Amino acid sequence: MWTTRSQRALAGSNPVRPFAQRRILLGVTGGIASYKSAHLARLLTQAGAEVDVVLTRSGQEFVGAVTFEALTGRPVHTALIAAGHALDHIKLARAAHAVVVAPATADFMARAAAGQADDLLSAVLLATTAPVLLVPAMNDRMWAHPQTGRNVSHLREIGYTVLDPDTGELAVGEGSGPGRMPEPPNILAHVGRLLERPGDLSGVRVLVTAGPTREAVDPVRFLSNRSSGKMGVALAEAAWRRGADVTLVCGPLGVDAPVGATVVSVETTEEMRLAVERHLPESRVLVMAAAPADFRPDVVAGQKIKKSQAPDALALAPTADILRSTVAARAPGTIVVGFALETDDVLAHAQGKLESKGLDLIVANDATEAGAGFGVDTNRVTVIGRTGAPEALPLMDKRDVADAILDRVVKLRGS
Ligand code: CTP
Repeated sequence: MWTTRSQRALAGSNPVRPFAQRRILLGVTGGIASYKSAHLARLLTQAGAEVDVVLTRSGQEFVGAVTFEALTGRPVHTALIAAGHALDHIKLARAAHAVVVAPATADFMARAAAGQADDLLSAVLLATTAPVLLVPAMNDRMWAHPQTGRNVSHLREIGYTVLDPDTGELAVGEGSGPGRMPEPPNILAHVGRLLERPGDLSGVRVLVTAGPTREAVDPVRFLSNRSSGKMGVALAEAAWRRGADVTLVCGPLGVDAPVGATVVSVETTEEMRLAVERHLPESRVLVMAAAPADFRPDVVAGQKIKKSQAPDALALAPTADILRSTVAARAPGTIVVGFALETDDVLAHAQGKLESKGLDLIVANDATEAGAGFGVDTNRVTVIGRTGAPEALPLMDKRDVADAILDRVVKLRGS
């Protein structure tokens, strides 16, 4: 288990903040999706959690205890009553910081909804005060059945988080309606949010922009830049994990969209500007991590420009500066954070943008520095506020940088 950021960096893997020193009870019930639970156990362990696996009797029919033991490095629990283990359900329930049941079958949810405690996993659910996440996986007709619907509603009413199953191909011979277990990385993100509850951004509307924009030259070509959107996606993910309602306005991303955020996809700088203008008044935090194109071709050719007719030069027109043109639409007290990607005189340029764009914080980084800037997983930034000295942070995973920025946003909101 890695406990410090430098240890994580050395190990080449980066657990997301809330998992270190946290104990997760992973319940696995008897569904074909339980093969994916092995991956989830691995992700949780890699993220720094201690994972106690409880396998139900039917769960054991699908996947063996040895698999989980090897993945978690801990004993796997199966029996409610066994010599020497009489109080396991109480001990496990007390030790858990979160309980996750994945997959949760229709039968398990029916028993949980009825408050039964006739096996170890259902007994743990009754005995725990930790937050509970149920991840259903079943045949699509079983999910659509009103009995299941009623059980799920009841489980949500008593405070459990019950994910909606994904739509897609189910096991051989089954339908393709909702019923599929969400993918393990998605479940991991939900566990992160559960662990952070109540998060310090709980219920706060956060607007994040990410990625590049594209400006058409002709129907097949465009001007853009090297932004992958990693930093903005990390910010959206971290804000959601910390309890925020997140809207992510993004250009074409080179990474997966974040779990939990409402994603508004745009292409051009003007589309991004309009989306920010629309969502800013209801937001209490804006983080402009996008790299919008600053120029667009003055004229967009209606047809593909033929090689033989290539112009000698492309006339460019400036695009709108999104921050400058929308910041006035913010509600009083809204914190606005910008980024400054520079290649020279980093601090002076960033300071200038902080002032001229009316920001509360600016995050400066040097595009020429190895391990920082576009496309990579890490970043080395200096955070500059309206008061106090600039804070130079060490080279960190972008997910850690995201948390460091949000820590400062939370502080500013409090002051
Ligand atoms: N930004 C913006 N609208 C643009 C370009 C940038 O709102 N058309 C935002 C970025 O998202 C970032 C901040 O402004 O938060 C600074 O972006 P940066 O590219 O560093 O600076 P520019 O304002 O584009 O200035 P320059 O290119 O001259 O450095």
